Amino acid sequence: MGVSNISNPSNAASLGLVKSKADIIDQTLKRPFCSIKGNHRRVIMASISSPSSTGHDVNLKLSGDSFIRPHLRKLSAYQPILPFEVLSAKLGIKPEDIIKLDANENPYGPPPEVLEALGSLKFPYIYPDPESRQLRAALAKDSGLESDYILVGCGCDELIDLIMRCVLDPGDKIVDCPPTFTMYEFDAGINAADVIKVPRKPDFSLNVELIAKVVELEKPKCIFLTSPNNPDGRLDCISMTGLAGLRVGYGAFPLSIIEYLWRAKQPYNVSVAAEVAACAALQNPKYLEMVKESLVQERDRLFKLLKEVPFLNPYPSYSNFILCGVTSGMDAKKLKDDLSKMGVMVRHYNNKELKGYIRVTAGKPEHTDALMECLRRVS
Ligand SMILES: Cc1ncc(COP(=O)(O)O)c(C=O)c1O
Repeated sequence: MGVSNISNPSNAASLGLVKSKADIIDQTLKRPFCSIKGNHRRVIMASISSPSSTGHDVNLKLSGDSFIRPHLRKLSAYQPILPFEVLSAKLGIKPEDIIKLDANENPYGPPPEVLEALGSLKFPYIYPDPESRQLRAALAKDSGLESDYILVGCGCDELIDLIMRCVLDPGDKIVDCPPTFTMYEFDAGINAADVIKVPRKPDFSLNVELIAKVVELEKPKCIFLTSPNNPDGRLDCISMTGLAGLRVGYGAFPLSIIEYLWRAKQPYNVSVAAEVAACAALQNPKYLEMVKESLVQERDRLFKLLKEVPFLNPYPSYSNFILCGVTSGMDAKKLKDDLSKMGVMVRHYNNKELKGYIRVTAGKPEHTDALMECLRRVS
C-alpha cells in the first residue's frame, strides 16, 4: 500500500508511488489463543522451530500480529465518533439532552411504521433472505430501477468495501480526491492498493483536468467521485430514512459487475430487522419527503446563522451538513471540544486538509438555537 499526493498538473507526469516497508515482526508470544470461554478452555499455543545461531533448534514464539498480513500491520484504524452512551457517560449529560450534529444522521428518526414493524418481527430467529428480495423490490419501485441492478448492504460502507475487494489486486491504484469520505483510502489500504490523491480545489470542486491526466498515466482501477461530497456537501442528496443505526444501504451497478459482488458478499449481510425497517420506511414516502423538506429548510437557516458568526466561514451545501472554516485565529479542535463540553457535538477531522474546519449537521430548529447560543458563549 502507498499514497501519492498530486497537487498540480506539472508533477502528474513524474508521478511516483510511495511504498512503505513492512513492519518488523514481533516474535514474542504475549498471549495464547483461547478458542472457548469459561471452564472448557482450550488453549492453542503457536510456535515455530527455527535453527538458533548456535546450531541448536529452539522454539521461536510468535505473537498474534505476526500472522497478520504485513500491509495491514501498518494500517491506521478508522476514527469513528464516540458511541452515544459512551459520550453521554463522558459528558455526564443524558443522551436525549445531547445535541448531536457530528454525523450524517437524521434527528427526526424513521416513520412510525418502522418501530411498529420492528416491534412485531415474526421470524427474528430465522436467517434473513440473502438476496434481500423484498427490500430490493421496494427500492426498485422507489428508484425506478429494475431490482437486478440493485444490491443492498450493511450500510453503503459495506458496498464500498465490496467493490474494492472485487476489483483491486495488491498494487492496483485508486484515485481519491480529498478532502472526501475517508473510507475510500481506508478500504484501499485493506486491499493493499495504492492511493493516488488528486486534491480538490480550494472551493472543494474536483480537479477534473488533473484527474483525467492521472487516469491516462496511471490506469487506476477505481475513481471515487462523491456526490454529495462529505464533508463539504457539494451537489444534492439527503439521507432521509433515519435508519443510520440499523445499517442498511443500497447501490446500483452494471449487470457485468453486480454478478461478482453477489458472489463475494457475505450471505446474510442485511439483517431481518434492517430489511423490515427499510421496507417499512419506504412505505411512507410522505413522511420521508416531509423530513427532507424540514432538513433542507433548517440547513438553509443554519447556513445564514453560521455566516453571521465572526469566526466561521460556512460553505454552501446541498446536503444535510455544512462545512465551516474556522477563522480569526480560533483553533477548530478547541472549538469542537468547547462545544462538546456544553453538550453540542460537531465533527472535527484530525487531518491536514481539514484541521482548520468543523462540520455541522442540520438538526431540528431547537438544535440550531442551542448551537448558536453555545457559539455566542465561546466567542
Ligand atoms: C460519502 C459517504 N459514503 C458512505 C457513507 C456511509 O454511509 P452508510 O451509513 O450507509 O454506511 C457516508 C456516511 O456519512 C458518506 O458520507
